[in-house]
Amino acid sequence: TRIYIPRDAAALALGADRVAKALSTEIAARKLDATIVRNGSRGMHWLEPLVEIETTEGRIAYGPVKPSDIAGLLDAGLVSGGNHPLCLGKTEDIPFLKNQTRLTFARCGVIDPVSLEDYKAHGGLKGLRTAIAMVPADVVKQVTDSGLRGRGGAGFPTGIKWKTVLDAAGPQKYIVCNADEGDSGTFADRMIMEGDPFVLIEGMAIAGLATGATKGYVYTRSEYPHAIAVMSEAVEVARAVGVLGPSVLGSGKAFDMEIRTGAGAYVCGEETALLNSLEGKRGVVRAKPPLPALQGFLGRPTVVNNVISLASVPIIMDKGADYYRDFGMGRSRGTIPIQIAGNVRHGGLYETAFGLTLGEIVDEIGGGTASGRPVRAVQVGGPLGAYFPRALFDTPFDYEAFAAKDGLIGHAGITVFDDTVDMLKQARFAMEFCAVESCGKCTPCRIGSTRGVETADNIARGIEPEKNRELLTDLCNTMKFGSLCALGGFTPYPVMSAMTHFPEDFSPAPIAEAAE
Ligand code: NAI
Ligand code: SF4
Repeated sequence: TRIYIPRDAAALALGADRVAKALSTEIAARKLDATIVRNGSRGMHWLEPLVEIETTEGRIAYGPVKPSDIAGLLDAGLVSGGNHPLCLGKTEDIPFLKNQTRLTFARCGVIDPVSLEDYKAHGGLKGLRTAIAMVPADVVKQVTDSGLRGRGGAGFPTGIKWKTVLDAAGPQKYIVCNADEGDSGTFADRMIMEGDPFVLIEGMAIAGLATGATKGYVYTRSEYPHAIAVMSEAVEVARAVGVLGPSVLGSGKAFDMEIRTGAGAYVCGEETALLNSLEGKRGVVRAKPPLPALQGFLGRPTVVNNVISLASVPIIMDKGADYYRDFGMGRSRGTIPIQIAGNVRHGGLYETAFGLTLGEIVDEIGGGTASGRPVRAVQVGGPLGAYFPRALFDTPFDYEAFAAKDGLIGHAGITVFDDTVDMLKQARFAMEFCAVESCGKCTPCRIGSTRGVETADNIARGIEPEKNRELLTDLCNTMKFGSLCALGGFTPYPVMSAMTHFPEDFSPAPIAEAAE
């Protein structure tokens, strides 16, 4: 019997290693015929560590499991999927999982992440084989036709970016995967790197074949040691069997890749700062143009794509552009892995076609707040995303619909807050975050963020609140329109949305300590 216990960082943080150790000790002591497989996470964080048993009817789930539960679980017949208070029934029937459309994350939590055999048995490498049989321009066309847009946050059409690189002249081209997942409350990149690294490798190899790039880099964060370990192991495996190397799957075309680690600056997730860092320089933003697609890594044509954009390519190549394009709404095609975090009952990763409303995501899928108090605000799109009040819960998850409400879906992280949240403090936090993480290259961001913190403090202290509210608005406009990159340019979103939708928090009683 195969027993699955995740090796994903979220499960480890909740004690998965201790559970695996306790289970392995008991299996040996009881001389049971069972093997423990360390899989990725299914993305249901409130149930981690989630232990799954393979049975003839499918996998049976138990969770959340503590080491002290193991003896009782085995007594109840865990190895054959026996009943127990922690038993959740068939994993695939848990509503949170059952109602998803898992295209990009289809294998995450299902397979042994570093087993290429497992990967192939679940449809892996089919997309790459299809791409090998096509001319590069047709691969690019298929990705363009699928409607895939950059999942890092900006939503730029992936196929058009690839076409720019394909058409660019250059003796050497590169694929750079942006895995510097800096947005607080987001974890899709990490989860797929830890749970299904080969899908990213396959996506990067397809990108290489499609654009003529022979070298790839995954730029990730030092805060992701488990993702780095899994990705590095998977790259070794892929190279050993010829998925990577001088002749990808015997195609005669070369593609190889490396994993590189940043030192932990948020701004290094901005593509040009990332490229500087990758070149060994200080991670400051470069002015665009030139676009990285034309002059990127070492001045060569470079595709810079987010993890999820690249990891979505294999299924597009395997099932076709129309298959992927059929999911979604408007100009937002395919699926998006929504990361539900904050004060929420059912936090985790939920992959679905675009189009669910924010209310459905928060109230039905997320199950409301963990505290049981009413939801007051939801920040969508990471620390640079806007706060949405209940009045806007009918907004569908779609790039354009969020932009129309002065928000963004960004990397699709949503953070839930209950009615105890102080929105003035949240606005101040956005300015403070920007001040800490600013690369310092341009004035609106470098100085504006610090002035923003002071202005928010003055409002909190009741010092000329009306004048300071006007000043904060003016500052936001300067940052929004005058900053060189999204850090300074998007910090106004959380600040302005907090002021617009929660004005009552910006008129506090004049007390000196309020800012503390
Ligand atoms: P952008 O709109 O400047 O560019 C989007 C992408 O399209 C870039 O890669 C750019 O080089 C490329 N591009 C634009 N025109 C092109 C053309 N004609 N040909 C080829 N490529 C072209 O946006 P930016 O500054 O790269 O990203 C901003 C977004 O990043 C925000 O929307 C935010 O949501 C997101 N973000 C994500 C974070 C995360 O942790 N994933 C953290 C912070 C921000
Ligand atoms: Fe640097 Fe901020 Fe300007 Fe971006 S907006 S270039 S992070 S100073």
